[in-house]
Amino acid sequence: MNITLTETLAYNPQEWSKGYDSQPEEFDYLITTLEGEIPPTLQGTLYRNGPGLLDIGGIPIRHPFDGDGMISAVTFKNSQAWFKNRFIQTQGYIEEKEAKKPLYRGVFGTAKLGGWLSNAFDVRLKNIANTNVISWGNKLLALWEADVPYRLQSDSLETLGLDYLDGVLQPGDSFSAHPRIDPNCIFDNGQPCLVNFGLKTGLSTTLNLWEFAPDGKLLREQKHEIKGFAFIHDFAITPHYAIFFQNPVTFNPFPFLLGFKGAGECVGFNPKEKTKIIIIPRDPNSQKKPYILETHSGFVFHHSNAFEADSQTICIDSICYNEFPKLEKNETYKTVDFQRLAPGQLWRFTLSLKTHTVKSMLLNERCVEFPSIHPQWVGKNARYSYMGATHFSTGNAPLQALCKFDLETKEEQIYSFSPSGYVSEPIFVPFPDGKTEEEGWVLVMVYDGKQHRSSIAIFDAENISKGYICRLHLTHHIPYGLHGCFLAIS
Ligand code: CO
Repeated sequence: MNITLTETLAYNPQEWSKGYDSQPEEFDYLITTLEGEIPPTLQGTLYRNGPGLLDIGGIPIRHPFDGDGMISAVTFKNSQAWFKNRFIQTQGYIEEKEAKKPLYRGVFGTAKLGGWLSNAFDVRLKNIANTNVISWGNKLLALWEADVPYRLQSDSLETLGLDYLDGVLQPGDSFSAHPRIDPNCIFDNGQPCLVNFGLKTGLSTTLNLWEFAPDGKLLREQKHEIKGFAFIHDFAITPHYAIFFQNPVTFNPFPFLLGFKGAGECVGFNPKEKTKIIIIPRDPNSQKKPYILETHSGFVFHHSNAFEADSQTICIDSICYNEFPKLEKNETYKTVDFQRLAPGQLWRFTLSLKTHTVKSMLLNERCVEFPSIHPQWVGKNARYSYMGATHFSTGNAPLQALCKFDLETKEEQIYSFSPSGYVSEPIFVPFPDGKTEEEGWVLVMVYDGKQHRSSIAIFDAENISKGYICRLHLTHHIPYGLHGCFLAIS
């Protein structure tokens, strides 16, 4: 049956694309337009990172993943909230702002002017620090997976410079934008620790795995060689393991080296090959080698969570695409036909360390992204996952709804901002005196395409479908962002 586009759209594509307009301004103000009241016990700062500029000197970038990182901070105190945003003063941002044109090549295809000849054999990439922002070891760090973090001052958001984590990292090292915090590490008497990885990839791959104490000191370090090229954006942890999905992709470096394409555009997907699942024991005294299991082909950017069902069985919940989502030759990210692209869907992979087999199960049909859970349930059998989701329960489209998914009953709670609202990654903030997994707020930034401004919606995690309890309207828009965190005032 042929149906026209308009009947199937829960949004206006022109309005949606304006969420990718650059926001060159830096603001600092008390938020005065509120619907509802800010809960008095919500105290702390929501930090978000994402591309702030979608052009360089008026020249559009090829992909938002190439956009210069900008931090937004919303500070809640005594039922009031302040907004502030600052660009990360990376070397590339400063140089290009001065030159008013692209000087570097972007991983996702943004090129210097002058065609392939001026781009050929220039493999310098710009550290854009645009993917995540975390607070660890008394440092606020902006992360981008192909390079070292940038450190920021946590109140002023002033850029303090590249941070080598007290010598753990060397210039040119990579530090993933997706660290996981183990809330009760069994190797550290139940203290929290931060686990993260870095990749050096080409024809083969070196994977570094680090664990850091709350004061930022390195606790444990491992290094593993992996066969083949690896494009690994995220991972998951359980008390005993770190789990990685090596998607079935290849890398053809020639169009990149010759200047025709960005490195990210040279990634090819092999639907006939299997996904490899690499399971690394975290125990520093473990003599066990990593387990390598295989499952069907697919592409995963993000995992929701993982846990040990028993000593030989790990469950991992991941958002999986049937293929690597890529722009066609004559398509831009602003004109992309969502319905052409495979939706991201929540799957559960059950990994047996005994039989080395994997069972996979689609948990929900709806297209989702940016999963998050209660931070105390990381690595444990969490019941709920919060995600950005499409308005309709099938097909692919921009994320317009907040979805709370019950992994036990497979029921979902949905609150949709359709037709003019678009959501970003939800962040779970536990109540200060909360005990159960549902006792907390879910904070989500929403872009309103009709008003061309953004807002922050606060939900009671127990009742997502009831709608937000408070919404704070900014006086301007923030371009669609990537990841962030909440730092409570203690
Ligand atoms: Co990510």
